[in-house]
Amino acid sequence: MKESASRWRVNYQQAIEYEIINSPHLFQLQNDSILSVGKTEQARRFVVMDRNVEKYYAEEIHNYFSHHQIEAKIISIPSGEEHKTLESYLTIVQELDAFPINRRNEPIIAIGGGVLTDIVGFVASSYRRGLPHLKVPTTLMGYVDASIGIKTGININGNKNRLGAFAPPQKVFLDKTFLKTLPKRHILNGVCEIIKLAIIKDADLFRLLETHGSQSIEEYFQNAEGDLILDTAIQGMLEELEPNLFEEDLMRKVDFGHTFSYGLETRHETNLLHGEAVLLDMMVSSLIAKSRQFISEEDISRIFQLIDQLGIELDTTILDSDMLWASLNERTYHRDGLQRVPMPLGIGGCTFVNDIKQDEIINAVKKLEDRMILNYDHA
Ligand SMILES: NC(=O)c1ccc[n+]([C@@H]2O[C@H](COP(=O)([O-])OP(=O)(O)OC[C@H]3O[C@@H](n4cnc5c(N)ncnc54)[C@H](O)[C@@H]3O)[C@@H](O)[C@H]2O)c1
Repeated sequence: MKESASRWRVNYQQAIEYEIINSPHLFQLQNDSILSVGKTEQARRFVVMDRNVEKYYAEEIHNYFSHHQIEAKIISIPSGEEHKTLESYLTIVQELDAFPINRRNEPIIAIGGGVLTDIVGFVASSYRRGLPHLKVPTTLMGYVDASIGIKTGININGNKNRLGAFAPPQKVFLDKTFLKTLPKRHILNGVCEIIKLAIIKDADLFRLLETHGSQSIEEYFQNAEGDLILDTAIQGMLEELEPNLFEEDLMRKVDFGHTFSYGLETRHETNLLHGEAVLLDMMVSSLIAKSRQFISEEDISRIFQLIDQLGIELDTTILDSDMLWASLNERTYHRDGLQRVPMPLGIGGCTFVNDIKQDEIINAVKKLEDRMILNYDHA
């Protein structure tokens, strides 16, 4: 609206709404939930899947689309963080150019882990200024975290997620049967994000992990208790994401474990998984919290016991206090000049601090290393 001869103000609001739907056996022929979005008569779908997903599920997915008479172009891209690149992005764009889809009602379908859904989400956000997309997470990390929010991105110039966009999916379909073929290390990787939520906001989830975590991991979350853990984690994650989808509020509980991990992941891109880096960060943060008396020794011991009981190994040899300090400073810059580091307040509570000193990091790393040596001696 025009306010004066030389000033105009534009004000437009768009509601964001999408559903995350549990739909087991998503590509069984009689399951039509993924076709509930977009047109289905004389329709096309552009599907991108992770190369390892292709190995196990390509035939089932091809059969599904041909059974439903959808002309599908199904491509795969190589897996892993090292492929979260501009090259992968451009490969998808070229394939899209060669297989034009209706930009309104033939959504792109992303089937894979967090790397795949982040890349495809970014393509969808930018190709022809935005196409609808559906996400189907096939890793635990994707299931409880990467696929259910609206962040997308690729790594560039040695920086994680430096190019990206906030891009809401049209729908997210959860089919936990994909987890059956996931390597155990990647199951544990996702469990680290669940532990994060438990420590920082949900003492009940922590107890659930203590009681049913090991069994659920053993059964790749195909059991009823596994369902309960996954649903509770997703609920908790969404409670944090929904009111702050675009991260206007920089004090995010879900950033617990995401301060020092940034440096760790950047330095060890090819051999350290996201959840593993997050767990190391959580332990350093928790020991700083302990020295500030935010959390008791008893609760710290429960956290260490849980990790041990779930069979997750912590490689403390890669902790380098100078690098963690640099990572904190980088995140401070990212968080608009304040550290805003989430810290546990007991188990299930959270507070934020802005005044962590380098010495506290050095002490916490030393304590963590000592604890690991003690554990090793007892083993
Ligand atoms: N967008 C977000 O909000 C958000 C949140 C958390 C993490 N992330 C991103 O997610 C990425 C990590 O995701 P990830 O841990 O899923 O890693 P990933 O996508 O690399 O997948 C892990 C491995 O599992 C394989 N795989 C996937 N599904 C499989 C299946 N069903 N069976 C067998 N193998 C399978 C993949 O090929 C890969 O080798 C990071 O890049 C991180 O930045 C994004």
